[in-house]
Amino acid sequence: MNTPQKAAAGASEVSFTLTDSRNGETIELPVLAGTEGPQVIDVRRLYAESGCFTYDPGYTSTGSCESRITFIDGDKGILLYRGHPIEELAEHAEYMEVCYLLLYGELPTQDQKDKFEKNITYHTMLHEQLAYFFRGFRRDSHPMAVMCGVVGALSAFYHDSTDISDPKHRMVASHRLIAKMPTIAAMAYKFSLGQPFVYPRNDLRYSENFMHMMFATPCEDYVVSPVLARAMRRILILHADHEQNASTSTVRLAGSSGANPFACIAAGIASLWGPAHGGANEAVLKMLEEIGSMDRIPEYVKRAKDKDDSFRLMGFGHRVYKNFDPRATVMQKTCHEVLGELGVNEPLLELAMELERIALEDDYFVEKKLYPNVDFYSGIILRAMGIPSSMFTVLFAVARTVGWVAQWNEMIEDPLQKIGRPRQLYTGPSQRPYVRIGDRE
Ligand code: ACO
Repeated sequence: MNTPQKAAAGASEVSFTLTDSRNGETIELPVLAGTEGPQVIDVRRLYAESGCFTYDPGYTSTGSCESRITFIDGDKGILLYRGHPIEELAEHAEYMEVCYLLLYGELPTQDQKDKFEKNITYHTMLHEQLAYFFRGFRRDSHPMAVMCGVVGALSAFYHDSTDISDPKHRMVASHRLIAKMPTIAAMAYKFSLGQPFVYPRNDLRYSENFMHMMFATPCEDYVVSPVLARAMRRILILHADHEQNASTSTVRLAGSSGANPFACIAAGIASLWGPAHGGANEAVLKMLEEIGSMDRIPEYVKRAKDKDDSFRLMGFGHRVYKNFDPRATVMQKTCHEVLGELGVNEPLLELAMELERIALEDDYFVEKKLYPNVDFYSGIILRAMGIPSSMFTVLFAVARTVGWVAQWNEMIEDPLQKIGRPRQLYTGPSQRPYVRIGDRE
């Protein structure tokens, strides 16, 4: 899928010398340079030569793989997909072009795009038997719970594309996942409403088709507004990939054991669900509703700064972006456009903007470099589009599937790929004998 190329990371001129204070011996560690971003110290030989592991919970200083897909410069607020700035893609590209770019490394020609789009379009239908799976869930299940289950079950239906050593299988599985995810998401929504499932339509584009499956009924068609379709396209593009975040690393780790792609993506969906990750936009909306009015903002800002209070300003802060999140900038603009063009007066937007203003002037947020992230405004747009908050993270999963799949393919094709197996700093008891129950104190 990703054109196999030899490793791009080269040894730089620099190296690190570690001195073992236990015996005075030194170990020379090579430093590798990529095309962008910080250089990395290659610690692969460290354990063999020193008997020590590195320790980095949360991977704050650890590069887990070599990748050519997405680059982030968190200090400068840069996000590139295969070298292309996110702002340009969000403004000019179609989602299918971005999917092709992430999967194959280059923007498609017209002919390549037409073929790819047709291929995706003709994979959107689900095996009819899968409809029975939905009926096994409670109607009030969270749609992300349904997504984890149904996507995990795909491997039981599409085993003709689970041989990960076969590039054709990998390609078919990748296309199936990108194509079927909106269908599954819309079915999860319809199921929660108690409405009949709406089948995909091949004459509609990806975003329009998704909205059609969500909002049409057998009694009434849904005419997709171009404004909403454009906003949906932007949301999909902005969320399509984000290098080695928690859910993508989960997909890679699951896939490193040779697990099939459907199981790996289900693992990614489970990770994405957490409120510190993809669940944040749902949490932002809940938080804004809870705050309720401008005069209560200072109280919540105070709580967010209080070490003894677990409350955090949702939609603020990011592990990587320490200046601004370029996706948040596009999202804020889109939010104004959507609400303006729909003529919606959304008090939560006013509240969000005031909260952003107050937080950005507050020393706590300034010093800790906490800025609004992509999720701060996306919930407001999605709500204006008529999408319920329980579906926000589902939509994120739909958009991110292409990124997960591209990263999974890249990992499988990497000649240096090994099963992911971190080590630990053990602090439990040392070896001790078994004591019979009657003899225990
Ligand atoms: N509100 C208040 N304080 C915060 C916030 C916040 N939203 N985010 C971080 N902080 C504080 C922390 O308490 C910590 O303070 P300390 O140094 O005094 O202990 C400091 O800022 C650093 O925060 P960490 O949690 O260590 O940073 P980390 O990189 O681990 O976490 C994260 C990043 C999870 C995104 C965090 O900022 C957060 O929880 N934000 C709210 C949830 C959110 O919006 N998530 C969406 C992320 S974007 C995405 O997944 C698409």
